[in-house]
Amino acid sequence: MRMQISVGGLLLRTPLANASGVLEWSAEAVEKMVSAGAGAVVLKTTTKEYRVGYNRPRVVKVPGGWIVAVGLANPGAEQVSRMVGELKKAARGVPVIGSVAGTSVREFVEVAAKLEEGGADALELNLSCPHFKGGGLEMGQDPATSYEIVNSVASVVKVPVIAKLGLSDKVVEVAVKSLEGGAKALSLINTIRSMKIDVYSKKPVLGYKYGGLGGEAIHPIAVRVIYDVYKETRADIFGVGGVRDWESALELMLAGAKAVQVGSALMDRGEIVISEILRGLEKFLWAEGFESVEEVVGLAHRD
Ligand SMILES: Cc1cc2nc3c(=O)[nH]c(=O)nc-3n(C[C@H](O)[C@H](O)[C@H](O)COP(=O)(O)O)c2cc1C
Repeated sequence: MRMQISVGGLLLRTPLANASGVLEWSAEAVEKMVSAGAGAVVLKTTTKEYRVGYNRPRVVKVPGGWIVAVGLANPGAEQVSRMVGELKKAARGVPVIGSVAGTSVREFVEVAAKLEEGGADALELNLSCPHFKGGGLEMGQDPATSYEIVNSVASVVKVPVIAKLGLSDKVVEVAVKSLEGGAKALSLINTIRSMKIDVYSKKPVLGYKYGGLGGEAIHPIAVRVIYDVYKETRADIFGVGGVRDWESALELMLAGAKAVQVGSALMDRGEIVISEILRGLEKFLWAEGFESVEEVVGLAHRD
């Protein structure tokens, strides 16, 4: 079975990757993903300066997933740029995608340039974190701002730029503008702003109060967003949201995703989930008489 697929100019040996934020900054973590069969590795979001992150607790389990408010804790662009080389070595030729955030166009450009300098094979712009004050979805739900950020980054870096978008009323419009700005691919979707309240303390559980919901609960929303965006744009898409087995991965591909990223299920079950999804997909494709995984992309759009 041909599992190779090209997304935004990156040639992936399989259509599976981790989602940003769930992989530690270590060569071992990258090696494990690659050994499990990942076709790309996505780093945690990086900002210009070091960020300590939000107060704990930062994650809470809820029915259907996790609510998370880590607060984009990261060592800062300089430090991450220096680490990329070692992480790339561990990836053994599998593309390493840096993730970029900022609170201004300039910050996005500076961080992107740093990560490219460090050797990142592509850059995913986090236009969608639902709890990043002054950045994330606050910027990324506005089509004009998204255009400006993507366009400014894409005109400075040579590697492919991927716009990671979140749920908003204007997500299709933002997708169109991001592509016009020079994005070679889109990642859809990020976590969805949410909250859990403890009935005994009668207070929000998370240190930041709000968080982003990921996991099974958001899968049908990811399917819908990918379907709508693919219908309008036919763009190369990384599908993200509630992927936990081969069926949920395949559903995102039928909606239009060329590859999928796994977040919450990796937290729940570790890298084995990647190899299981790949085995399940291959078995299904073979049984259905397909020759290549690419053949299923967007199939749900046939009349
Ligand atoms: C612990 C955790 C940390 C995350 N950190 C980031 C991040 O740094 N940047 C980002 O773009 N998305 C981040 N996300 C969102 C995921 O990349 C993904 O978009 C979201 O979790 C939906 O996928 P899932 O349903 O498979 O979890 C994070 C998610 C989790 C669970």
